[in-house]
Amino acid sequence: MDFMEISKKRRTVRKFAQRPVEAEKVEKILEAGRWSPTAVNAQPQRILVLDAPESLSKVREFCSFGYDKKYVDLAEECDDKEHGKINLYYGAPLVLFVAYDRDACWKHPQSGKSSGATDATIVATHMMLEAASIGLGTVWISFFDEGKAKELLRLPESWQPVCMLYVGYPAEDFTPNTHLGGHRKPLSETCFYNEVPEELG
Ligand SMILES: Cc1cc2nc3c(=O)[nH]c(=O)nc-3n(C[C@H](O)[C@H](O)[C@H](O)COP(=O)(O)O)c2cc1C
Repeated sequence: MDFMEISKKRRTVRKFAQRPVEAEKVEKILEAGRWSPTAVNAQPQRILVLDAPESLSKVREFCSFGYDKKYVDLAEECDDKEHGKINLYYGAPLVLFVAYDRDACWKHPQSGKSSGATDATIVATHMMLEAASIGLGTVWISFFDEGKAKELLRLPESWQPVCMLYVGYPAEDFTPNTHLGGHRKPLSETCFYNEVPEELG
């Protein structure tokens, strides 16, 4: 598939079919992440592949928050009525938990800023696009309880969580979220040639 086609085809999925992702497809996704660029090729990303029921129930636990209508309005799948909460797990059969090892990152010599979050984000992006190219749906998750995740997943102290990717086949009745994801700003609002327009300065 042409890259532009994949970019446009990839749309957030928040409702997954109860069908496992084939091991070869998981490997392909991980392999795409493996070939991502990272600062000084340090490869500080650490990916935890969660597909066992007990691992997924941990995700469910650290993605649970007090009821907030705002999120239910955005994605009704997160409405966890039974417990009076919202839950951002969405029933995905596969969760890629993306972190980086603080001790393995390049640090900017002047600012001391670590490249870990950028590296891990690039890796996650490659994996997300590979998943789209082989017919899988994904959603990028930033909204989770980091402290609880570290504890439940027993992450090493030096691992910094960045995001999760939920991966799976879209549910038959899944429809892309048009109010959140359907619109893209015109290039003229986000890209500028050679100089910042005066009105923005
Ligand atoms: C950095 C980042 C964080 C996100 N966090 C969440 C999240 O915590 N929960 C969620 O349901 N969607 C999350 N999303 C998905 C976005 O809402 C979605 O990508 C956006 O609305 C555009 O829609 P599209 O992916 O269908 O094009 C996140 C996306 C990005 C890039």
